[in-house]
Amino acid sequence: MTLSIENLTVLERGRAVVSDATLSVAPGKVTAVLGANGAGKSELVLAVAGMKPVTSGSVRLDGRELTGLPPDVIRGSGVAAVPEGHRVLTRLSVDDNLRAAGSLLAARDVEDALASTYVLFPELAERKKQIAGTMSGGQQQMLAIGHALMCRPRYLLIDEMSLGLAPLIVKRLVLAIRELVARGVGVILVEQFIEVALSLADDAVVMRGGEVRYSGPAETLKNDHAVLDRAYF
Ligand SMILES: Nc1ncnc2c1ncn2[C@@H]1O[C@H](COP(=O)(O)OP(=O)(O)OP(=O)(O)O)[C@@H](O)[C@H]1O
Ligand SMILES: [Mg+2]
Repeated sequence: MTLSIENLTVLERGRAVVSDATLSVAPGKVTAVLGANGAGKSELVLAVAGMKPVTSGSVRLDGRELTGLPPDVIRGSGVAAVPEGHRVLTRLSVDDNLRAAGSLLAARDVEDALASTYVLFPELAERKKQIAGTMSGGQQQMLAIGHALMCRPRYLLIDEMSLGLAPLIVKRLVLAIRELVARGVGVILVEQFIEVALSLADDAVVMRGGEVRYSGPAETLKNDHAVLDRAYF
């Protein structure tokens, strides 16, 4: 049981923005994706989620081919992405945001998914009627994660979870991710803050120029900064 990305290549105007990238994550595990600006992390997330065309390689969920399927089919099969920049429907209430995100589910399942999202984020439960655009960046990020959770994913890809957020909020989000992981969700976490990423991750990859330059235990990167430096620079 894994989400496995094998030899994934994404061409953008003839240039490989993701090049032959291989990584995977198992249920209840976290794989961190590190790398400098322009390394191809976001492109990787978008391609796995079906939001960017894959040029070659494959994305498989428990052996089932997801490569090239439309985003809603990929979501429906249990792989949800939280794209960069906590995108929410700013004019809608928190509750309506989550209901809109759950529109693919049966009515009963919507209530279950809502309830479990509100358990994970009581901050959102307290603000059901609040217009999303009036919330803080951290609250909007919770809502963006909530959006993804409304399809009851087995795997979650989060791009730049903590970008622009205060340390206290980041701590809060880390706790939420730990809780999801404890529920058995597998997480691919793209994160600028290396410490945050490595504090959560079991495994890590470091990308550079679209390629995976390091792949292995997160522990190795924690203990040996030279490995990280080599992969970054
Ligand atoms: N639509 C596009 N057309 C051409 N090039 C693009 C396009 N989108 C992204 N790129 C390029 O793809 C490369 C990888 O970008 P990507 O956004 O995946 O990097 P990233 O690792 O997420 O960086 P950051 O840390 O800044 O978020 C970059 O060189 C970027 O300029
Ligand atoms: Mg990015």
